[in-house]
Amino acid sequence: MRTHLCADLDEKNIGQDVILCGWCNTYRDHGGVVFIDLRDKSGLIQLVCDPASGAYSTAASVRDEYVLIAKGKIRTRGVGLENPKLKTGKIEVVLDGLIIENKSLTPPILIGDESVNEDLRLKYRYLDLRSKKSFHIFKMRSDIAITARNSLAQMGFIEVETPILSKTTPEGARDYLVPSRVHSGEFFALPQSPQLFKQILMVGGMDRYFQIARCFRDEDLRADRQPEFTQIDVEMSFCQQDDVMATAEKLLKDIFAAASIEVSTPFVRIKYAEAMEKYGSDKPDLRFDMPLVEVGDLFVDSSNEIFSTIAKDSKKNRFKALKVQSGDEFFTRKTLGEAEEFVRKFGAKGLAYIQCKEDGPKGPLVKFVSEESLKTLLERVGARAGDIIFFGAGEKRIVWDYMGRLRVKIAQDMGLIDENMLKFLWVVDFPMFEKSDGKISALHHPFTMPKNLDTDDIEAIESIAYDVVLNGVELGGGSIRIHKQDIQEKIFEILGIAPNEAKEKFGFLLEALSYGAPPHGGFAIGLDRLVMLLTKSSSIRDVIAFPKTQKATCLLTDAPNSVDEEQLKELHIRLKNQPRG
Ligand code: AMO
Repeated sequence: MRTHLCADLDEKNIGQDVILCGWCNTYRDHGGVVFIDLRDKSGLIQLVCDPASGAYSTAASVRDEYVLIAKGKIRTRGVGLENPKLKTGKIEVVLDGLIIENKSLTPPILIGDESVNEDLRLKYRYLDLRSKKSFHIFKMRSDIAITARNSLAQMGFIEVETPILSKTTPEGARDYLVPSRVHSGEFFALPQSPQLFKQILMVGGMDRYFQIARCFRDEDLRADRQPEFTQIDVEMSFCQQDDVMATAEKLLKDIFAAASIEVSTPFVRIKYAEAMEKYGSDKPDLRFDMPLVEVGDLFVDSSNEIFSTIAKDSKKNRFKALKVQSGDEFFTRKTLGEAEEFVRKFGAKGLAYIQCKEDGPKGPLVKFVSEESLKTLLERVGARAGDIIFFGAGEKRIVWDYMGRLRVKIAQDMGLIDENMLKFLWVVDFPMFEKSDGKISALHHPFTMPKNLDTDDIEAIESIAYDVVLNGVELGGGSIRIHKQDIQEKIFEILGIAPNEAKEKFGFLLEALSYGAPPHGGFAIGLDRLVMLLTKSSSIRDVIAFPKTQKATCLLTDAPNSVDEEQLKELHIRLKNQPRG
């Protein structure tokens, strides 16, 4: 229908006849002359029509979001009439023909206006998608997927699809279930990831697999989580941790290169234990330093009994100092109060601090520590006049968490983060298990290879698992897998999964492992999070064409919704308050 895209035109096209298609972005009537900004995926161009034109009466009836086919000649706008904000701002199309291909009701949202309530934008997602920003995001998403496919194909990987109607794949979330019509009372689970199938593909000799895979997890939603999301999922045989990590690095390097960003590899590696101790997080943001420093040994003899009790149990507890360079001036009584309120939300009982003044250290903590210990403390954190030091003390997981969060919040509030910097890193040597309320669970997933199992201290067992982190966001993760049936059975046993339950849930995997499973490992990268980071989007919903809300609903289609009784009957389902019949 068209000769050009709107924003592909420029002064070189002056004098040419063109046909353009798109939507009316805005229209104006200036003393009888009609101006229309026509929009397509490339951008905008101004159409102009005066009363002498045969297209005038049509042009005068155009309204926002009408679909137009415009015919005309390109001319220069003339001195003083240019729009420097527009790529096509030096030219315009003088209309000699105009077809209104379709009308539009008055749009409930202004295209591209992000201040509009998000629920309204999601209900009218097709209008929201018409913005330049949305098109840029989905073009980037498509480029990433295409680059990932090419990069992996070049490295010898083949793309294989795995089932959506399947059995539970535990990745730590609840399953979405689909009732079976044919088998009364039985359910499929939607995959939380293709984990088990990709391992079985390795047993099936595929050697190198990938898939741009849809995953489903019924979990609490956050700014970077959706119930339905996409992974670039990879698995390979006859490999060790370094081979898998090198593959992931090459893939990420190629993807970023497609966005004209150079990424240097290999990425830094940090052990899980070090990440927790130094940054209070297993996904540390290393665009700024500000490490947490352990100072518990200096409080063992503190005159404050609470502090000394915490400091004495260094296995269970931590006493962390966070020095903020030149922070004393930044932290007024008000911002100190806000910082304390912030950490309280994450389990802190309070927030002690020392202000480093010209005439010596001040603040509530000073009187509880001996002069000598105070001197050592200031040296250990490298404190100078003008700095402020915050302290967190208590159960280690709680202290890591709130001090890690405080570290990031202060860096954000003080503007210490270079938004253009990309800091990739690997977090390695994760513990195999975590214990919470006496219950043991797998930190990654139960198919991860442990480093050794010859110890009674469950929490000391490390796994061959690794996460790739970018700017404080967990972008992906993976591991070397268990390829021997006896080790897999032992892990299920430690996790308290009884042999009959293991057989019922994962018998197919255990059986596959007993038929010559090769050593294998892999990883998955969250495609949505990657697109978020590359397009600097603050919400995952912006990078998914039809996302769910925080309450896991789709405002466009109104899903989930109730269904006919007839359909429920076919599925052998009776709702709790529904009468028998
Ligand atoms: P994991 O559970 O760490 O590993 O997931 C891998 C990556 O997927 C992304 N991700 C999500 N993105 C959006 N919304 C969610 N709800 C969500 N959950 C996870 C993250 C995460 O790093 N089978 C293993 C991988 C493997 O071992 O090979 C797995 O799924 O970016």
